[in-house]
Amino acid sequence: MLNFQFYNPAKIIFGRGEENNVGKYVAEYGGKKVLLHYGGGSIKKTGLYDKAVKSLKENNIEFVELGGVCPNPVLSLVRKGIEICKSENIDFILAVGGGSVIDSAKAISVGAKTEEDIWEYFMDKKKVIYETIPIGTVLTIAATGSESSTSTVVTNEENLFKRSISSSKYIPKFSILNPELTFTLPAYQTACGCSDILSHLFERYFTLVENVDFTDRLLEAAMKTIIINAPLTKENPYNYDIRAEIMWVGTLAHNGLLNTGRIGDWASHHIEHELSALYNLTHGAGLSIITPAWMKYVYKENTDKFIQLAHRVFDIDFAYNEKELIIKEMIKKLENWYKSLGLPTTLREVGIDDSHFSEMAEKCLVARGLTGNFKKLNQEDICNIYKLAL
Ligand code: NZQ
Ligand code: ZN
Repeated sequence: MLNFQFYNPAKIIFGRGEENNVGKYVAEYGGKKVLLHYGGGSIKKTGLYDKAVKSLKENNIEFVELGGVCPNPVLSLVRKGIEICKSENIDFILAVGGGSVIDSAKAISVGAKTEEDIWEYFMDKKKVIYETIPIGTVLTIAATGSESSTSTVVTNEENLFKRSISSSKYIPKFSILNPELTFTLPAYQTACGCSDILSHLFERYFTLVENVDFTDRLLEAAMKTIIINAPLTKENPYNYDIRAEIMWVGTLAHNGLLNTGRIGDWASHHIEHELSALYNLTHGAGLSIITPAWMKYVYKENTDKFIQLAHRVFDIDFAYNEKELIIKEMIKKLENWYKSLGLPTTLREVGIDDSHFSEMAEKCLVARGLTGNFKKLNQEDICNIYKLAL
C-alpha cells in the first residue's frame, strides 16, 4: 500500500424528502445570494425545481438562475456562469441535476474567483486553484460521483477538447442524495450511469500497486452491488431500495476512499472522453464500448489481477485452468451485462467508424504524454483499442 492522504469534506445528506430542506443547508454554509444552476429541464418536469425554489425562498435566500447545462457540459455556458457570479456577487452555487450540471458548477466556482481564463486550468495541470465559490448539490442521477469528487469535466466546443481539472477546492460542501429523485430517469440514462460507476471501480481496481487487499475487496463489493442492482431497475424503476444501493455506490466509487494507497489506471476514461467530445456520445455508453476493448488489449500486464476479478466478482470457477480462457469468459460476461442493459459494446452500434481514430488518439495524449498506469499507452496503443472496439 502506498502513502496516501484522504480528505473528503462533502456532507452527504441521504434519503427521502431532503431536497425540501436545501435552502436550510445553503444557509448553513453561508449562502446568501445563490446561482441556481440546472440542466435542460428535467428538474422542471419532475417538480424538483419548484421544491428547490420554495426552500430557497423560505430561507430568505436570493438567487439568480442559469439553466441549460447540456450532457457533456460546455465551456461557453461555464463562461456565462462566471460572468453572472462576478456581476451579481454570487456567494454560493447550488447545482441541481446530474454530473454535467455539477461539473459546470465546479468550473464556474473556480473561474469566478480568478481573472485568468478558466480553460487554462483544464489544459495546464500545474495551475493552482486558490479560491472557489462554495457549492451544494441536489443529485438527480447516480453516475459520475461528481457530488463529492475532486473532478470537473468540460468540453471546449471550439476545439472539441474534453478535459478535466482535479482539485479538492470545489468538492461540494453538501450533496443531497434522495434515491427517489432518480425514479424518473429514462432506462438508458440509468444504464449509462451504472456503466460509469462500474468503470470508476475498474479504473481503481486495475492497479499495479501490490498489497492493497482491503481496497480490492471494497471495490469488489461495490462492483457486485452495481452488477446485481442495475438490471433490477428495468423492471422496478420506482424501487427505492434498488435505487438507493446504486446511488450510494455511485458516490463512494468516486469520492477518493476506494483509491487510497493505490494508483488507478484511467486510460479507458481518457480514451472515452475523446469519443464523447467528438461525437457527443453519452459517457457511460462510451465506457461500455471502450472498457471491454481496453481489457482485451492490456490483460497480459497482470493476468492474476484479471483472474481475481473473474473469480470474485464474475463468479467464474476455475474449471477452466487456462488463464486466458477465464479472462475471455469474464470479458464476455461483462459485455453481456452491458447488452442486457441496452448499452452498446461496439463503436459501429453508435454509428462511429474508423475515420477519426488517429486524430482522437493524438488528442487524447495532448498535455499528457502517455495515458494509463496499468499499461502506459501511446498513440498506436490507443488506436489499437479503438480498432478492437469497432
Ligand atoms: O439536462 P436535464 O434535462 O436535467 O436531463 C438530464 C440529461 O439529459 C437527464 N437527467 C438527469 N437526471 C434526471 C434526468 N432525466 C430525468 N430524470 C432525472 N432524475 O439525464 C441526462 C444526463 O445527465 P448528465 O448530468 O449529463 O449525466 P451524468 O451524471 O452521467 O454526467 C455526465 C458528465 O459527467 C462527466 C462525463 O464525462 C459527462 O460529461 N464525468 C464527470 C466526472 C466527475 N466530475 O467526477 C467523472 C466521470 O468520469 C465523468 O467523466
Ligand atoms: Zn466516468
